[in-house]
Parts: sequence; structure tokens; C-alpha cells
Amino acid sequence: MSHFLLMISRDSIEEVRSRVDIVDVISDFVSLKKSGQNFKALSPFNNEKTPSFYVVPAKGIFKDFSSGKGGDSFTFVMEHEKISYIEAVRFLAKKYGVELKEDKENNEFAAEQSEREGLYILMNFAKDYFKEKLHTHEEGRSIGLSYFRERGFTDKTIQKFELGYALDGWTYFSAEAIQKGYNKELLEKTGLVVKKEDGSTYDRFRGRVIFPVHNLSGKVIAFGARMMGKDKNQPKYINSPETDIYHKSDVLYGLFQAKNSIRQHNNCYLVEGYTDVISMHQADVENVVASSGTALTEEQIKLMRRFTENVTVLFDGDSAGIKAALRGIDLILKGGLNVRVALFPDGEDPDSYSRKVGTTAFQDFLKNSTKDFISFKADLFSAEAANDPIRKAESIKEIVNSISIIPDPVKRSVYIQETSHLLKMPEQVLLSELNKILVQERRKGEKATNRETSSKETETASIETIAPLKIDSDAMVHFQEKETIRLLLNYADKSLAGQDQQEAQSLGQFMLQELDDVEFTNPVLKSIFIEFKEGLNDNSIRNTDYFLRHGSDAIKRMVTDLITQRYDTSSHWGDKFHIYIPKETELLDKLAYTNVLRLKFRIVQRMMEDNLKELKTVEAGGDLDKLEKCIEMQMGLKQAERDLASILGIVVSK
Ligand code: GTP
Ligand code: MN
Repeated sequence: MSHFLLMISRDSIEEVRSRVDIVDVISDFVSLKKSGQNFKALSPFNNEKTPSFYVVPAKGIFKDFSSGKGGDSFTFVMEHEKISYIEAVRFLAKKYGVELKEDKENNEFAAEQSEREGLYILMNFAKDYFKEKLHTHEEGRSIGLSYFRERGFTDKTIQKFELGYALDGWTYFSAEAIQKGYNKELLEKTGLVVKKEDGSTYDRFRGRVIFPVHNLSGKVIAFGARMMGKDKNQPKYINSPETDIYHKSDVLYGLFQAKNSIRQHNNCYLVEGYTDVISMHQADVENVVASSGTALTEEQIKLMRRFTENVTVLFDGDSAGIKAALRGIDLILKGGLNVRVALFPDGEDPDSYSRKVGTTAFQDFLKNSTKDFISFKADLFSAEAANDPIRKAESIKEIVNSISIIPDPVKRSVYIQETSHLLKMPEQVLLSELNKILVQERRKGEKATNRETSSKETETASIETIAPLKIDSDAMVHFQEKETIRLLLNYADKSLAGQDQQEAQSLGQFMLQELDDVEFTNPVLKSIFIEFKEGLNDNSIRNTDYFLRHGSDAIKRMVTDLITQRYDTSSHWGDKFHIYIPKETELLDKLAYTNVLRLKFRIVQRMMEDNLKELKTVEAGGDLDKLEKCIEMQMGLKQAERDLASILGIVVSK
């Protein structure tokens, strides 16, 4: 196999360079969003919350501010796939159909870099070998192929997943590989061959059907092999061991086949097994990946996050499945993703269920039976909790625990709001439970870092310095301010149906009048709001175009953000984001009205918090007049809060 030691000619490399399109190259791995002339995305190299990965097509380069990496298409492929320059050239040449000419000149550098490529080449050979056996060997056809057929896999599916069969014998595969010139050392390194103590070797996969595992660019990096028949003494599946090209905690089965569909649907189904992925493809649901038996890892979540923010966990409804789902939910939330869940009837997995009920019913099931994690947890515990206050408290704790894991404070607040609605619990009770957990976690974190740095100061850190309470009221006001501007940007000129047959009013007129005396906190939102008010005065309602043309950079960014934002904003966004936009326009009256009230409600709550602090200092100072004023203010605010809450249907503490 000496040909990977040969050097690719300079001309060939130039040829590849002239054909590559960086946006096209990177889009194979990262979901890019257009941003002016350029493109933007979450960094594929770091786990980040706001995009700092840029692609500049005019210059053919990318820059990742979170990791500092940057360069051209070749650099990207090298960094991303962790391959050598030569491998990157080969990869791109293949993608663009450039035939590489090789200089017959050995090179040490190439030799050093060729080992990983050697693994890829041997794995590819093995995949072709197993496929060939499945389709043309008598044993493969009568045992392997008929097994797949029995499971209902079509020829198209078998091709798409490159399924194969390993003959039942100790050395069929290795003999053929060696005869084709692959060396023994490499065979061991791929894990396709196992070495015994006496130095002799045998094939790892024997008498099993083969499921190749692909990396993001479609290369085979591992195999899963399922046994035929039922032998209690053997594991049902045998998998490739870890190698230089296969780290199982970084891989999701099916992602290569699913990635376009995941982007398209902006959602990724997560299942447990190989066959679940495959059966779902047959039911025309292609945005699905499997963790393949191992417990879900943070790396796998990070991987999904590159294609979507929304994950739907599909597990078996038995107790093991529920346990796995619960663990998965928390890990996914921690990774900053939105999570929904559906459990299949006891004993069914996506594979068996889709075959049992058929494509249409299966798709309906996915549509109708998935719930967000709050409802899922609430339902899970509600059966027992209904008549048992202690159980109810426990179930609330369970839910709030999950919410506390979410990194984004605004999202946390929205979920608290949802939970309050769903469980008919005052938001304040949930918030204080949430804050308790956050404080504890914070303390734990501080203690952990403290051990290294010493000092008693943080041990005695007071709740004030940790101040998670503050986050929520500020975040809620901010959230509501943003929502107000979002509505104005999208619908200011839409007319409201109105209750009476008085003068028809536009959404902009209504909201700007209602919020005339409100002062926005966020400076960017504030200046947009003021612009809108000025527009009202000169009878020219501002719109997106106006801001994109005349606004400052910060304004442009905010406006772009708000008009592209889809589902983070509805009060039931978790449930409805698929149909959110058309629905929203139908409900404009109600939206405008409740939004105005919600913003006021949040402002009142923040005022109460500020006033409460003031009250504490006044108390300490002893000025009775001032104290009385503060108390009066607090009572007035409390009344306002209650009034607004009752209209909005929010439960608040007494
Ligand atoms: P079928 O029984 O053919 O439908 O397979 P399945 O994919 O439904 O398997 P199951 O639900 O039992 O397991 C889910 C996943 O766990 C499988 O796809 C494998 O990735 C993994 N798995 C199952 N059994 C074993 C095993 O014995 N060893 C290992 N390493 N992995 C296993
Ligand atoms: Mn199964």
C-alpha cells in the first residue's frame, strides 16, 4: 500500500484550490447563516452560545474567534476532520472531482501523516468487502440479506447505510485483506482483526450483519455488527474498538445520512439503536441519529448543536428507557439545546413501532405525542402527585432542577413561566426554588475552585453577592422589551380588528400609545422604541427596512436578530414553533394587548425588587417618613402586580 507515500503534484493542488468554494466546503459540516456579505455560525471548534465563527467568501477564508483558528478551505478541512494537509487535498479533490496527479517522489512528511489515511482506506476496503459478501456470497445472501429483508429493509435503505455481512469463519476477511496487500499491523490497528496472546490473529466480526458507522464526511470509521439468531452467550452487538479515527463518544450513528434533513427541519430525533435510525428513514423521517447503546455524551450533544438547537428524544417507554430519557434531557439542556420527548408504548422502540403502525401513523405519533420536557416531567410525576402534596413538591423540584441546568437565564425565565401555567403554581415560588438551586450550584462551583486558590472569603459569600434573584427580573424585563420591539418590527402597520367599531387602529399605534410612558432599559431597544414613537408623530410608521438602512450597527444587529428569530418568543414556543408564524398573525390583537400588559407586569416586578432593596436600607437608616413611603409604594406595586397578573392569568404570591 505504498501509494499514500507518494506526493501530490503542485499543479494538482492548484487545480483543487481554484475549484473550491469555501461556503460550499464549510456547509458540509456547519450550518451557516448569511450575515451581510459573509456567513456566520456557532463555532464547530468550541461549545459557544453566540456565533463567533465567520466565513468571508470574497476572500475564501474563515475565522473562528472563539478558538482563534482561521484559514482557507484546506485549513478548515484539516482542522475540522483532524487530518493532514495531503488528506485535505484528497478530500477536496474528491468533492470537486479533480483527478490528482502524483509525483513519484517519496517524502517523510507524507509517511508520517499517512497512518490515519491508512486506517480510512482499510475501513473503506472492509466496508466494500462486507457489502459484497452481503449481496453476492451465498452465505451473505441466505443469512444476512434475508435477515434484512425480514426486518423490512428495502434495497435502497441497504445501499444508503452501506449494510454488509461478515462471513462466519475465523479468517475469511483477514486472508482477503492480506492478499490485497494490507499489512497485519494496520489490520490490528483498525480493530478488524484481534490478536491473541500467542501472536495469532482472527477476524473480530464473524457471522454477523454489519452496520458501518460514518463520520460527517461519509467515511467509514467503525462498524457495529449484530448477531444472527439467539445465542445467550454472545453479545447482541459487537462494535469496533476505539482507534485513531474512531472515538465513540464523539460519534452519532446516522448523522452523515441525517445532517441535511436535520438542518431542513431544524430538529433532530435522538434514538437508541442502529435499527431505529434505519427504520425511521424508511418511514420518511430522516433527521434522526442514535447514540448507539452508549450513554449520551456532551460531545455528541455538541455535535447535534452544529446542525440544530432542537432535539427530540425518542425512547422506549419502559423504566430503562425513561431513565435514559431523563438523563438525556438534563444533558441536552445543559448543552444549551431545546429538548422534547416522546416515549413509545412499553416494549416498543422506533423500529418496531414504525413497522407495526406504518408510516402515516408513525409520523402522526411523532407530531402528536412529543412534549416539551416540562410537560413530560409533570406527567411522569403527576400520576402519583395528584393527591399527595409531598409528591407534588418533589415533582416541582424535579422540573425546576432541570430548568436550573439551562445556561441561558432568559430561557430559564420563560420555562419558569410555562411551569407556573402548567402546574398552577405561583411564579415566585418556582423562582425562589430555582434561585435556591442556583445559589447552591454556585457555592459548589466556588468551593471547587477555592480548593485550588485558598482564602475563606468566598466561603462566606452572601446571597447578595451571588445575586441570582436580580438576573430574573432584569432578564424578564429585557425579554419583554425585546418581544415588544419584535412585534413592532414585524407588525406595526397591521391593523387590529379592535373590539368596537371605532377608528381602526394599527398595532403600532396601539402599542405605542399604551407604552407611551414606559422607559426601556436596554439602550439599543430604547433607541428603536424612540424611533417608532417619532415615526408615529410624523405619521410614518417605521419598519425593518428603515432601521436596516439608517440604524447604527448595534441597531441593525438587533433588528436582524429580532426579525429572524422564530420561536424563542411565543409563550408556548416549545409547543408551537412549527406553526408559530402564521398563527401569530392571526392573533395579533391578543398578542399586542397581552404584550403591553406583560411588559408592564415585568416592569412592576422589577420596581418591586428595587423598592424592596431601598426599603432595607431605609429600615437600617431609621427614617420613618421615608420608610412609610417605601411601604406604601410596595403595596401599590403589589396591587398593580396582582391586577395585571389576574388579567394575564399569571399566578403570583399573595
Ligand atoms: P434490534 O434488536 O436488532 O432491533 O436492535 P436494536 O438496535 O433495537 O438494539 P437494542 O434496542 O437492544 O439496543 C440499542 C443499541 O444499543 C443497539 O443499536 C446497539 O448500538 C447497542 N447495543 C445493544 N446490545 C448491545 C451489546 O450487546 N453490545 C454492545 N456493545 N452494544 C449493544
Ligand atoms: Mn430494536
